[in-house]
Amino acid sequence: MTQSERTREGQRLTGVSRDQREERRDADGPPAGDNGTLGMKIQDLSAFYGSFKAVTDVSMDIRANKVTALIGPSGCGKSTFIRCLNRMHEVIPGARAEGTVSLGDQDIYAKNSDPVVIRRRVGMVFQKPNPFSKSIYENVAWGARINGFRGDVDEMVERSLRQAALWDEVKDRLKESGYGLSGGQQQRLCIARTLAVEPEVILMDEPASALDPVSTQKIEDTMAELKKHYTVVIVTHNMQQAARISDYTGFFYIVNMGDPGRLWEFDDTEKIFSNPERKETEDYVTGRFG
Ligand SMILES: Nc1ncnc2c1ncn2[C@@H]1O[C@H](COP(=O)(O)OP(=O)(O)OP(=O)(O)O)[C@@H](O)[C@H]1O
Ligand SMILES: [Mg+2]
Repeated sequence: MTQSERTREGQRLTGVSRDQREERRDADGPPAGDNGTLGMKIQDLSAFYGSFKAVTDVSMDIRANKVTALIGPSGCGKSTFIRCLNRMHEVIPGARAEGTVSLGDQDIYAKNSDPVVIRRRVGMVFQKPNPFSKSIYENVAWGARINGFRGDVDEMVERSLRQAALWDEVKDRLKESGYGLSGGQQQRLCIARTLAVEPEVILMDEPASALDPVSTQKIEDTMAELKKHYTVVIVTHNMQQAARISDYTGFFYIVNMGDPGRLWEFDDTEKIFSNPERKETEDYVTGRFG
C-alpha cells in the first residue's frame, strides 16, 4: 500500500480527515508528542498464568483524560494486560504480574499498595453486563456507599446515570430491577456503577461486543463525555470503533504460536490507522488478518 492509499484507508476507517482531526485535537488539548498529563505509566510488564507467560515486557504511557484503545488478534493478551492495570489479574489462581504500573506516584504493585483501593481508583467494565440483583438505583448507590460515600446519594446516582447516558431512559423507574433493562442499558448501568465510586481510570474490556448497533453507538457517545472526567482504556475488536473513539491506540501481537503477546506498536490513533510503522499493524488495521 502506498502512503496516500494508507492515508485514505485511515480516513475511511475513522471517517475523519487529517485536517478535521487536527482541529479536533486543538479543541481537545495537546496533541501526542506534547503529551498532556500522565494517567498511568507501565514499565516492563509481564503477566503469567502459572508458568505460562501470556504477555511480555509491555511499556506504555497512558495519558490522562484521553481514550486509549487496545487492539490485536484474539489471544494476544489484551484482556490479561488490562486486568494487570487494576490488580484483577492476580485474582485468578496461579496468575501473577511482573513489572511496574504507576498510578500517579503510586506503584500499584508496591508492598504497601492495597488492591481494594487500587480497584476503586481504577474501575473496570466487563464484556458481559453484570448488574447486581438490585434496583437500578441501588446498582449505582451500593458500591459508592460501601466505599464510604457520604454525600447526597440521589444526586450522585443521577450524575452517574447521566454520565453513562442512561438517565433519561431510567429516571422514572429507578426502583425497578436492573435485570429488567435491555443488554445495552445494563451495560450503561454497569458503567454508571463504575463511575459512582469516582475512579481516576476506567478500564473497559470489549464493553460493546455483545450489544446491538444502537446500544454500541450510545456507549461510544459516552466516551467523549467520560474523558472529560476520567482516563479511559478500552479493548475492542472493532476497528471503526477504535478509530472513532480513541486518541491513542496500542496494537498487541504474537509472533509465533505459544509466544507471549507483546505491545507491537503504540501511537496516536490517527498514525496507527493511516501510517503505522510496522507491517503487521498495517495488515491488522486494514483487515488482512485477525
Ligand atoms: N485464566 C487463564 N488461565 C490460563 N491461561 C489464560 C487464562 N486467561 C487467558 N489465558 C491465556 O493467555 C493468553 C492471552 O489471553 P487473553 O484473554 O488476555 O487474550 P485477548 O487478547 O484478550 O484475546 P481475545 O481478543 O480473544 O479476548 C491466551 O493464550 C490465553 O489462552
Ligand atoms: Mg480478551
